[in-house]
Amino acid sequence: MIEQLAESPVDFLYQQVTERFEQLITTGVLKTGDKLPSLRALTQEQGISLSTAFRAYCELEAKGFIEARIKSGYYVRYAPRSGAPTQPTPKPWTDPALVSVDDMIMQVYQNLSEKDIVQLSVAAPALELLPEGKLNKAMAEAVRTHAASCLNYEVIQGNQRLRTQIARYAVASGITVTEEDVVTTHGCMDALVLCLRAVTSPGDTVAIDSPTYFGIFSALQSLGLKALEIPHHPTTGLDLDYLENALQTVRLAACLFVPTFSNPTGTCLPDADKKRLVELLAEHRVPLIEDDIYGELYFGRQRPRTCKSFDQRGLVLLCSSVSKSLAPGYRVGWCLPGQYLAKVVQLKRMTTVSSTAPTQAAIGLFFENGRYDLHLRHLRKALHTQCLRYTQAIAEYFPPEIKVTQPQGGYALWVQMPPTINAYTLFRAALREKIGLAPGQIFSMDGRFKHHFRLCFGAPYTQSIDASLRTLGQLIREPMEPPTAE
Ligand SMILES: Cc1ncc(COP(=O)(O)O)c(C=O)c1O
Repeated sequence: MIEQLAESPVDFLYQQVTERFEQLITTGVLKTGDKLPSLRALTQEQGISLSTAFRAYCELEAKGFIEARIKSGYYVRYAPRSGAPTQPTPKPWTDPALVSVDDMIMQVYQNLSEKDIVQLSVAAPALELLPEGKLNKAMAEAVRTHAASCLNYEVIQGNQRLRTQIARYAVASGITVTEEDVVTTHGCMDALVLCLRAVTSPGDTVAIDSPTYFGIFSALQSLGLKALEIPHHPTTGLDLDYLENALQTVRLAACLFVPTFSNPTGTCLPDADKKRLVELLAEHRVPLIEDDIYGELYFGRQRPRTCKSFDQRGLVLLCSSVSKSLAPGYRVGWCLPGQYLAKVVQLKRMTTVSSTAPTQAAIGLFFENGRYDLHLRHLRKALHTQCLRYTQAIAEYFPPEIKVTQPQGGYALWVQMPPTINAYTLFRAALREKIGLAPGQIFSMDGRFKHHFRLCFGAPYTQSIDASLRTLGQLIREPMEPPTAE
C-alpha cells in the first residue's frame, strides 16, 4: 500500500510511517472512511515491528487523522474542509491611511483574564504547554550564579550570552550573524517599535499585510505613521505583484510583514517569494521589518527560511521573541537590525536603557543547555495535533459553506463565513456563551474582513473546547441580530 521505508534508525521509523499516511490522507489518496491495513499487514508490508506500526497508528490517531474502531481496525477520520478562505477585493493603493486603532480591539481583549471564558481568541500557548519547572530552575540558577550582573544594568545591546544563543538559533533559518549583530528587547513589540523608529519619521507610510496582527496598527499609530494594506492571501501569502505596483506610486518608508506563519492566516510565504520580496525592496531601497515571532513553530521537518536569510544589503530588520514559544511574561525579545544596528542601539539607549537582566540571563541559560530545543520539539508536536483536532471539529460542527486555512505552523486558523454572517455579531453572540474569538474586523483598518474570524488552537483539545466549537457551529447556523457596532 505505501512504498517501502528507507533504512533509518528504529526511533524514526514510526515517524516515517506516520508522515507517509499523513500525506496520503491530506492529498486525498486515502479518503475519510477508508480502512487502513491491519497492524500485522503493515508490519509485513513495511518490514517493521508490531510496536513501530502501533506507535505510528497511535500518533495518527492522536492527530485526528485516523480512528480505531473496536474489533474492526483503523479507519481514516480526517475530513478537511474543501477550499481555503478568499481575500476580499482590495482597496486602491493610492490612499494610505493614518492609523487609528479600533475600540473593537479593546472590546475583544477586555475579557482575556476572565476564567470562565473559553479563550479561542488568544494566539499564545496554554500555560500547561510551557516548561514552568525548568524555566524556574533556569531563573534560580541565573540569579544564583550571576547575582551581580542580574542586579546591575545590562549592557545596552543586551545580555551577551543570550545574544550568542540567538545568533546560534538564527543559523537554522539561513542567517549567519554573531552576537554583535543582535539587540535584545522587551518582547517582539518593543523590537518592532525600535526598528520602525530607526527607519521612519512621523507621517511616513509603511506597507503591512492585510489581514495582519492588530498590535502592528497600535505600533504605527503610536508613531504617527500611515499604513498601506497589501493583500495577503490565506493560502499563497503576500501579493507581491500588488506590492510591486504600489512601489511605483506610493513612497514607502518601510514594509512590516509577518512572512512566516502570519497572524491571523497562518500562511508561510514560500522561499522563492521571500527571495523576490527582499530583492524587490532592495531595488527600491525600502527596508523590510520582518516579524518572525512564529518562525520556530513549524509543523514540518524544517524551520522555514527567513527573508533575512536572502538579505545581502542589511536592509532586513528581523524581530522576534520567546513570547509564543516559551514565556510571554518574561518579555524577552530581540532584533537583528542589519545596517540599522547603530541607530537601534541608540534608540534603545534613549528609551529602555537596558533590558531586564534576570529574565535575559535565564532565557540565555535555557537556550544554552539544550532545554529550549527539547521544549520546542514537544510544543510543535502538541500544536500540530491541536491544529488538526480543531480543524476536524470545524469540519464536523460548522456548516459546509465555511472555509478554513490549513496552517503549517503557528497558532491560528482563519475562518471565512458566508457574506450573510457578520463576524462582530458572531463575536458578541459567542461571548454570551462564554466563548472568546477574534472577529475579522480587527485585522484590518477598514474592517474589510467582516465575514472572517480568527480561531486559535493554543489550548489542548478538551471536552470544553469541543463543546465550545460545537456551540460556535450552532451560532453560525442560527440567524443573528444585525451588528450594533462595526
Ligand atoms: C505577529 C506578532 N508580532 C508581535 C507580537 C507581540 O509579541 P510580544 O508579546 O513578544 O511583544 C504578536 C503577539 O500576538 C504577534 O502575533
